[in-house]
Amino acid sequence: MRAVDLIHKKRDGGELTAKELTFLVNGYCDGGIPDYQMSAWAMAVFFRGMTPAETAALTLAMANSGDQADLTPIAGVKVDKHSTGGVGDKTTLIIAPLVASVGVPVAKMSGRGLGHTGGTIDKLESIAGFQTELSREKFLEQVNELGLSVIGQSGNLTPADKKLYALRDVTATVESIPLIASSVMSKKIAAGADAIVLDVKTGSGAFMKTVDDSEKLAQAMVEIGTQIGRQTAAVISDMDQPLGFAIGNALEVREAIETLRGKGPSDLTELCLTLGAHMVVLGGKAATVAEAKELLQHQLDNGEALAKFKQFIAAQGGDASVADDVNLLPQAAEQVEVKAAAAGYISAIDAEQLGVAAMLLGAGRATKEASIDYSVGIIIRKKVGDPVSEGDTLAVLHTRAQDAAVDEVSAKVSDAYAISAMKPAERPLLLSVVTAEGTMRY
Ligand code: URA
Repeated sequence: MRAVDLIHKKRDGGELTAKELTFLVNGYCDGGIPDYQMSAWAMAVFFRGMTPAETAALTLAMANSGDQADLTPIAGVKVDKHSTGGVGDKTTLIIAPLVASVGVPVAKMSGRGLGHTGGTIDKLESIAGFQTELSREKFLEQVNELGLSVIGQSGNLTPADKKLYALRDVTATVESIPLIASSVMSKKIAAGADAIVLDVKTGSGAFMKTVDDSEKLAQAMVEIGTQIGRQTAAVISDMDQPLGFAIGNALEVREAIETLRGKGPSDLTELCLTLGAHMVVLGGKAATVAEAKELLQHQLDNGEALAKFKQFIAAQGGDASVADDVNLLPQAAEQVEVKAAAAGYISAIDAEQLGVAAMLLGAGRATKEASIDYSVGIIIRKKVGDPVSEGDTLAVLHTRAQDAAVDEVSAKVSDAYAISAMKPAERPLLLSVVTAEGTMRY
């Protein structure tokens, strides 16, 4: 087999076999196939697409390219959740204890933040003492005993995806639905999930800017799951503004705790209940999404979800008393208000811009090696549709003392807000659900 023939075949719109795709993935991983050939193939896929069978085969080849987590020692259906990336997205902190509290085991590997997006591991590490590196034995034991553990990615999971994603990043081939779908699903499969719930974002702050494209991506991922025997459901949600009010590690943990107390922002609560409900159904603990949602709402109201969060934090060495007193979390030295320059209605908030602003304050990393400050970030005071008068506070920056970046960040946050004279049309948070049975718009 020769790489050039496979590139040729794809360039002309042909369908590659599983054997051919495995040859490309393995060859690229071991260095036998150079970057220039893999990029030519990726560009051919960008223009020609892939069939569902090809997408599933590529996914499996990438999942098989490195270590795979074996979660079989954990009893029950292990349902993983994945978000296609968002700003202020602290859903894992809420959903993991919430669904574990009704008996769905959560054995999750999460990542750190990079650039304008945050990472669950950084958020958890803002809790004093919390350990994100556990031995495999301790991880499995904790999920079997408590129903829940979240750790940093360990081992050499999907090296082919890492290498290919980095190549796509510099060859303008990221925005290809089959390549994104196989990249995401290969990681979930290698992480050992029996079933998968995907949170697919759409809008200005997301990879997919329209609902139609987001549905296509969701359908491609659900199809992969179905083809390889892992039940998959995807919820498409709006990312035209950040989720909830908090951006920044400790600030997001604080908001997650409020949500677990049943007093969180309505958009965040709604998304967590919906994604969680799909996990509960796939985990076999409820027959319908509506029934599962009711069950989870009950867990927020009766304190069981918060109790599970506390047990989880304590089991991984963290200070669980933060759940009773959020003021024990790291707090920034100063708060700086960003004011509205005009009166009207908030018509849009550029989520990505706010993510970058939070990163500049020290909440995120510009490079993989950079260190972060858990205490800093942004609290949004006005969301899309809210009326404002000139001089009203749009957002509050939580900053280090005398941070030289404050003026630049204030300007960025102010620019992220669009204010119009007319009240904008309401945009629903939840847009559609994609399962093996089909696509349903809300
Ligand atoms: N996220 C991924 O993990 N992979 C992609 O290709 C795009 C987004």
